[in-house]
Amino acid sequence: MVSKEICFDEATFSIERMTIHDLPEVRIIEKEAFPIPWSYQSFVSELTTNDNAIYLVARINRQIVGFVGMWLIIDEGHITNIAVAKDFRNQGIGRRLLQAMDLIAFAHGVRRMTLEVRVSNIGAQALYRKLGYRPCGVRPEYYRDNNEDAIIMWKELKIDEQTKVNTGNRN
Ligand SMILES: CC(C)(COP(=O)(O)OP(=O)(O)OC[C@H]1O[C@@H](n2cnc3c(N)ncnc32)[C@H](O)[C@@H]1OP(=O)(O)O)[C@@H](O)C(=O)NCCC(=O)NCCS
Repeated sequence: MVSKEICFDEATFSIERMTIHDLPEVRIIEKEAFPIPWSYQSFVSELTTNDNAIYLVARINRQIVGFVGMWLIIDEGHITNIAVAKDFRNQGIGRRLLQAMDLIAFAHGVRRMTLEVRVSNIGAQALYRKLGYRPCGVRPEYYRDNNEDAIIMWKELKIDEQTKVNTGNRN
């Protein structure tokens, strides 16, 4: 099983497994980030009945500032959603959440990661590219709110000589 907390350098910053007690804060971030946010019940069932789902929250001074989810499907990790609170964006939190998920995924035997992103979501695409994801296809009219296409992105998970996950080109 994955340890509850993954520590980063800053004393006030942590990434932990999401629990149902986190959902009120998580849903505030979700609602400001997505036009069709998940229902409370969707999150509850992900956390309580989906054994193949892993959800993480990022905290600063115990306040939840972002979250990410993944489904483990054999040796593939499917990112289900990621969002960072508006006031905390562009500070590396999204990158750290995805890097933490890479480590957890790798420990579970995952060797390829994938996700979908809106064609118009240039910021998220830049983040994913920075972490090694590459566009591999399109799901036409994937998003229900505006029929926007989704770009499908994939990356291979590799380990380097220090057995750290190679999270891709950081330039
Ligand atoms: C996408 C999102 C999760 C990124 O989180 P974040 O914490 O702001 O991202 P980070 O600060 O970790 O960004 C890391 C890198 O990604 C790139 N990046 C992130 N947001 C970007 C933007 N809006 N424009 C351009 N590049 C961006 C940058 O290259 C950045 O590297 P840098 O720190 O060297 O500049 C956040 O913007 C968000 O919550 N958006 C709304 C929800 C959403 O769109 N989720 C994705 C659905 S597919």
